[in-house]
Amino acid sequence: MNSYLKAITALGSGSLHPGGFTGTLGILRNFTIAPDEIILDLGCGTGRTACHLAKTYGAHVFALDNSEAMLSKAKSRALQEGVEVHYVLGDILDLPFKDNIADLVIVESVLIFLPVRPALQECFRVLKKKGYLVCVEMFASGSLPANEREKLKALCGLKQIPTYQEWLNYFQTTGFTFIKTWQKKLPGPLEVLKELLNPDPCWFRPGEQVYLDPASLSVLFKYKRLMMRNKRHLGYGTFILIKE
Ligand SMILES: C[S@@+](CC[C@H](N)C(=O)[O-])C[C@H]1O[C@@H](n2cnc3c(N)ncnc32)[C@H](O)[C@@H]1O
Repeated sequence: MNSYLKAITALGSGSLHPGGFTGTLGILRNFTIAPDEIILDLGCGTGRTACHLAKTYGAHVFALDNSEAMLSKAKSRALQEGVEVHYVLGDILDLPFKDNIADLVIVESVLIFLPVRPALQECFRVLKKKGYLVCVEMFASGSLPANEREKLKALCGLKQIPTYQEWLNYFQTTGFTFIKTWQKKLPGPLEVLKELLNPDPCWFRPGEQVYLDPASLSVLFKYKRLMMRNKRHLGYGTFILIKE
């Protein structure tokens, strides 16, 4: 695991993707989800989205991550929230699921760390016909200075930082049809405030402390500085797609 993923695992926050949990709630307003549906949350992290889906819709939720540390946080969240989520240790590049089984696949800030095409092909494979894929991923405009791009990739272990258009091309060439896609700037003060109105019940509970080792703290500070410095070149895309 790279040092950035190690640091955010230690931090353990509930929504480790741009737009946060507020963004996820906004995306889910586009869907009607029935209790018999099968949902895969791939690269689930600490599992806040997965738990919300299981609790709110009663759907069969499978939450997969390749990090045991993340999954163990996700499992204790499900216990605390009293919801049933099926946790799977696995790799999005080689999903341990049969073809055509999922009604909805959610991938929030995961593809950017991976070779995108093979990961998307796996998402396509496991989706039913007429199944939906939801992705949230950061993008960079062409104006991002090359040296800053390389620093961000190296610090976070990113395989690439596509432009918004490059993301669209990835989805299209994998065979997905667009339902709705939009782009936003990285969260500003208003979004941060909205996120504070949706506090994570399983993070920073009263009386508990989150211990961050010095190496993780240093990675997170460097990350914050890089992001602030390059804010105007960065944004995130939300992509709602269908396998027709
Ligand atoms: C930035 S975090 C996002 C977590 C979660 N989706 C969220 O939004 O809170 C990226 C997650 O992808 C997971 N991940 C990275 N590579 C993976 C892979 N090849 N297969 C499965 N999960 C992976 C990491 O362990 C981490 O939990």
